[in-house]
Amino acid sequence: MRPYSAVKKMLHSFRLSLRFVLPLATAIALLAYLTVPLVDQLALRWFVRDLDIRSHLITSTLQDTLIELLEQGNKSKINHLFLRSIQDERLFSLGYCNDEGVLLYSTPAFPKSLGCKMPTSALNDPKSMIRLPQGPVHVAINPLEQSGVKIGSLVLVHDMSFVERRSSDSRKYVIILFAVLGVVASIITVFVAYLSRRGWIEGVRAMIRGEGILHPFSQPANPELQPLAGDLRALLRSLDAERRFADNSTISWTPDKLRSLLHKELTGDQVIVVSNREPYMHIRGEKGIEISRPASGLVTAVEPVMRACSGTWIAHGSGTADKEVVDKHGRVGVPPDHPEYTLRRIWLTGEEENGYYYGFANEGMWPLCHIAHVRPVFRTNDWEQYVLINQRFADAVVKEAHSDDPVVLVQDYHFALLPTMLRNVLPKATVITFWHIPWPNPESFGICPWREELLRGMLGSTILGFHTRFHCKNFLETVDRYLETRIEHESSTISHGGMLTLVESYPISIQWPSPWQQIQPSVTECREEIRHALSLAENCLIGLGVDRMDYTKGILERLSAVKRLLELHPEMIGRFTFIQIAAPSRSALEEYQAFDVRVHAVVTRINERFSKGSYQAICLKAEHHEPEEINRYYRAADVCMVTSLHDGMNLVAKEYVAARDDERGVLLLSQFTGAAHELHEALIVNPYHVEQTADALYRGLTMPDFEQQERMRSMRTLVSDFNVYRWAGRMLIDAARIREREKLAMRIGRPL
Ligand code: F6P
Repeated sequence: MRPYSAVKKMLHSFRLSLRFVLPLATAIALLAYLTVPLVDQLALRWFVRDLDIRSHLITSTLQDTLIELLEQGNKSKINHLFLRSIQDERLFSLGYCNDEGVLLYSTPAFPKSLGCKMPTSALNDPKSMIRLPQGPVHVAINPLEQSGVKIGSLVLVHDMSFVERRSSDSRKYVIILFAVLGVVASIITVFVAYLSRRGWIEGVRAMIRGEGILHPFSQPANPELQPLAGDLRALLRSLDAERRFADNSTISWTPDKLRSLLHKELTGDQVIVVSNREPYMHIRGEKGIEISRPASGLVTAVEPVMRACSGTWIAHGSGTADKEVVDKHGRVGVPPDHPEYTLRRIWLTGEEENGYYYGFANEGMWPLCHIAHVRPVFRTNDWEQYVLINQRFADAVVKEAHSDDPVVLVQDYHFALLPTMLRNVLPKATVITFWHIPWPNPESFGICPWREELLRGMLGSTILGFHTRFHCKNFLETVDRYLETRIEHESSTISHGGMLTLVESYPISIQWPSPWQQIQPSVTECREEIRHALSLAENCLIGLGVDRMDYTKGILERLSAVKRLLELHPEMIGRFTFIQIAAPSRSALEEYQAFDVRVHAVVTRINERFSKGSYQAICLKAEHHEPEEINRYYRAADVCMVTSLHDGMNLVAKEYVAARDDERGVLLLSQFTGAAHELHEALIVNPYHVEQTADALYRGLTMPDFEQQERMRSMRTLVSDFNVYRWAGRMLIDAARIREREKLAMRIGRPL
């Protein structure tokens, strides 16, 4: 350290210390100011008492001799006795008064003004000094008795000027004592303050350096700083979140941006996606092999990301003609007409698909994670298939990886075990797991017989993403409940088996601009086309629902709301039709078959009740539609209803908004979707409340143009800014940071 800066630091410390010293010095001065008169008073009282005793002593010494001489009337001997007695330096003078109070004998210096009576001031306060022209004196008038009879009094006058001298001396010493005390206390205070300030600064610096923060489970250097560590971590995290937000919000996310991020931040590292559902299915149709795009939010979101990043997508080959188009490794380039990345298909037997996909994933995990009042079913055989297939996909990732540190994006609840299986073989891989469905509370999750295995499997991830903070919180609490790990809530990380998992929210989104924007007919044309295709009246208002046929989507509740609307507003009968597109889904499962039957039955009942001529209140289209076709429905619909009972995000809501470049149309959105956390201008409803949903539907159908425009414009801005490239970009940026830290930690041989 340079001497100049050392002096500066000391001066700074001194200035800081003055804050302690000045009040301390003031307090000490005040104490001295109050103490000195007190000391004076006390000393005076001691001296007066001493002189009283002394006077009594002298009186008793002289009494016998004096009485004898008085009886003899020997005046000269009495004077001699008196003169001898006042040889004592303190005794100023002596006098003898007879019993009538007449001064008969006295030494020469006996004050004339005194006589035989005590002065009034001394009578009031016998302990006080008497101030005579000669100076301060102490007067004692002691009776002389002979055989119990008073014969006169001896007046003793002591010089008290020494008291004033001593009092001024003691005042001086007291002041010196307090001054020394003040200086010593100040020096000690400055020193202690300096030391503790240094200690605090060192402690806080240590915390800021990350000792006890970045190492979430170590203690801060100073134990007394422990209470501060939490606050500091929270502050750093919020600063980091703000910085991340600022970073992200200034970037306009496009496929190019994502690509360049991949090359810059992840130095072009290979990206491998793992999901159960494949983005393209090859189906054997009447005209040969046809391409089908599955109804899947996951596919909608991840496919544009994959096109931007290239790489490999590993998925279950479930199309009837999938095997016919792949090479000997199960690979095929997609999109089929202009390939941009590789699709690697994994084959499953019927038994495997039944156990892993239908059984464990969709009869167990799906109802477990959704609050939709369907009981999860867990079977050991399903679990065994689930483990087997997770391992098969993990092996495929290892096979597809070009290096030992690829970036692997694991999708959804089908692959909870895969992250750890993969990490066991490729410890340097960056594993980003995204959970597309909600995460339940610990109690609900606790009913799964393999809860610990699932959690341990997921914790192989570098990053574990959910749609909302609420799901992250549920996950952290679940891990806290069932596993021995260390959780750092401020940084949202879990430490386990020497590695760290970041649990973060990344609300998923869709491609923006919409791929159909340029090629679709106008909104008016789309509306006419659909009205024509479904034989609807010319001015018929259109409500729309687009879902997989799934009990979590609130389709029955939506139909009840439509029925209630027609009951409450009969003028809408014949003027309003609700179109429900319901893609067949998981139809091998009884629960789904039963649900399908119920939906059909309810639609039939409602239509029977409200149909008029060719008019049908509800048009159920329970079949697969390609995305382009669905987009035309979105454009035609006056109101789109998303009434899920529980949903991770629900991308139908965002797709509807993206499709409406005319800035018209109303979105009705369940409060139980992740999308409701972002699309505040939608009409938010509780799907369990039929009347409320019916009212919202009516409000949507009658909403003035300008209000539709305001709401839609605002939602479109949000979806365009927070598009799917940002979703992937944020995860990749976080992964790149963690990767850098891991590499650095390995280089310097220090654990993360
Ligand atoms: O919601 C979870 C999810 O995996 C979505 O990502 C997707 O939309 C849907 O389920 C598809 O389900 P499946 O692949 O079983 O048809």
